[in-house]
Amino acid sequence: MTVLGTGLDTASPEYAENRAALLAKLDELAAEQAKAVGGGGEKYVERHRKRGKLLARERIELLLDPDTPFLELSPLAAWGSDYQVGASLVTGIGVIEGVECLITANDPTVRGGASNPWTLKKALRANEIAYANRLPVVSLVESGGADLPSQKEIFIPGGALFKDITRLSAAGIPTVAVVFGNSTAGGAYVPGMSDHVIMVKERAKVFLGGPPLVKMATGEESDDESLGGAEMHARTSGLADYFAVDEPDALRQARRVVARLNWRKAHADPPIADPPKYDEDELLGIVPGDLKVPFDPREVIARLVDGSDFDEFKPLYGPSLTTGWARLHGYPVGILANAQGVLFSEESQKAAQFIQLANQRDIPLLFLHNTTGYMVGKEYEQGGIIKHGAMMINAVSNSRVPHLSVLMGASYGAGHYGMCGRAYDPRFLFAWPSAKSAVMGPQQLAGVLSIVARASAAAKGQPYDDEADAGLRAMVEQQIESESLPMFLSGRLYDDGVIDPRDTRTVLGQCLSAIHTAPYEGARGGFGVFRM
Ligand code: COA
Repeated sequence: MTVLGTGLDTASPEYAENRAALLAKLDELAAEQAKAVGGGGEKYVERHRKRGKLLARERIELLLDPDTPFLELSPLAAWGSDYQVGASLVTGIGVIEGVECLITANDPTVRGGASNPWTLKKALRANEIAYANRLPVVSLVESGGADLPSQKEIFIPGGALFKDITRLSAAGIPTVAVVFGNSTAGGAYVPGMSDHVIMVKERAKVFLGGPPLVKMATGEESDDESLGGAEMHARTSGLADYFAVDEPDALRQARRVVARLNWRKAHADPPIADPPKYDEDELLGIVPGDLKVPFDPREVIARLVDGSDFDEFKPLYGPSLTTGWARLHGYPVGILANAQGVLFSEESQKAAQFIQLANQRDIPLLFLHNTTGYMVGKEYEQGGIIKHGAMMINAVSNSRVPHLSVLMGASYGAGHYGMCGRAYDPRFLFAWPSAKSAVMGPQQLAGVLSIVARASAAAKGQPYDDEADAGLRAMVEQQIESESLPMFLSGRLYDDGVIDPRDTRTVLGQCLSAIHTAPYEGARGGFGVFRM
């Protein structure tokens, strides 16, 4: 065993300061998450209950094995937009009859569960996760379909939802739809495309067009039940495989369907692992409120991995990136963690080598972000920093082992890419409330804009207004700062959620377990041309 030591002084004022700053951010986060849980607000929740219906999260709770955790994904979707936080949809990973499934549930208390552009992004991301990790999908359906005022943004791309369901099915990944209410027009294709369909008596409404539309189209008089009720679909159309007498019965039947899937994970579960030697609670005191102050990522690794046991790779070479091998909840992982923030040529080459090794050995990779990007300046350009950064990005892009990313602090510039940012398809990406991500820091960005504007004025022979420049800089700085924050980025689905640092080991353990449902093999070759 190579157990990491710790230099973290939990009695120091810095520790107390860092901890207090993170706790304050966690409070803000909790307030926003509560909005998602609150759905459409008291009035609509009350009305929903009066109709004898369960809330989306209550349905999920009854679906899951008792006392098992639910890893909710993208809970802050739509944050900062005109739509309700959470985007009228709950998605996540939970265990049903011992099977890890991807679950989605419409929240009918928010605009009738209608889908807006953020709902669509969130649903497509959930499908992507199910596909990559081969997780059976259970959809708990009750939705008003497209959010009509925003139809222009969702109608055409939204077709992918139904394509995804049948492609999952074609890949042998089971899909189950449980219909609790409205599932009309395009929504009818959720049960229509699913492998297994359960409908709730006198509640499910599954038709291409409701009675008013039918009247308009053909003049026919009809009613909800005869057009698309559960009983009609179970007895007559055959769209429903199972007829449930009420909501709990539907959820019970969904559990039975999953129990009979004969679903097996590609990899056996590892034995119960040792916890880290150090308290996870101390993760709150490591990242400084001011991200310019560096911190040692080994202090984080020591609180995440089994037994705090970490074999560092090339510790003396490229020390601004820590790389090494560990286990997390029993799963082997290779870790790349930024130490001093900046990535130099040595760090980039070391990363490329390390990523190739992980691929040769079929070991998943965990990227812990705290980077301001690749080093700039004459010396570094002449030393080939572009070639070396490209080498790292090439290795990350063409690596075939599963990747996990956690944004702990800064994640700026191409450093975000090299460390497997969102566009590099990590299987999961989470942010701590302390994280910030943007093309560069707000001050730097505002400064660059100002230098460019000044040069442009000089080229035209115009005078430069310094007072206006200061005002503009302050405004740009503030804008970029707010757009770099985790809640903003999470709202746009640029991560799978903002998590409490203390939950990181648990969340990553759940992700690793989900990942091991699907087979994977590292790239033995197949990298792009490495520029030497
Ligand atoms: N787009 C935008 N807003 C919608 C919506 C949609 N598709 N469906 C419902 N809403 C809004 C309603 O206008 C209402 O807003 P308000 O409370 O501010 O007046 C709120 O969501 C709740 O709807 P309500 O009709 O009161 O809820 P309900 O539970 O009684 O009925 C539905 C829910 C979904 C059955 C019903 O609203 C409906 O039929 N919606 C239209 C369905 C449709 O045809 N969609 C197009 C499919 S592509």
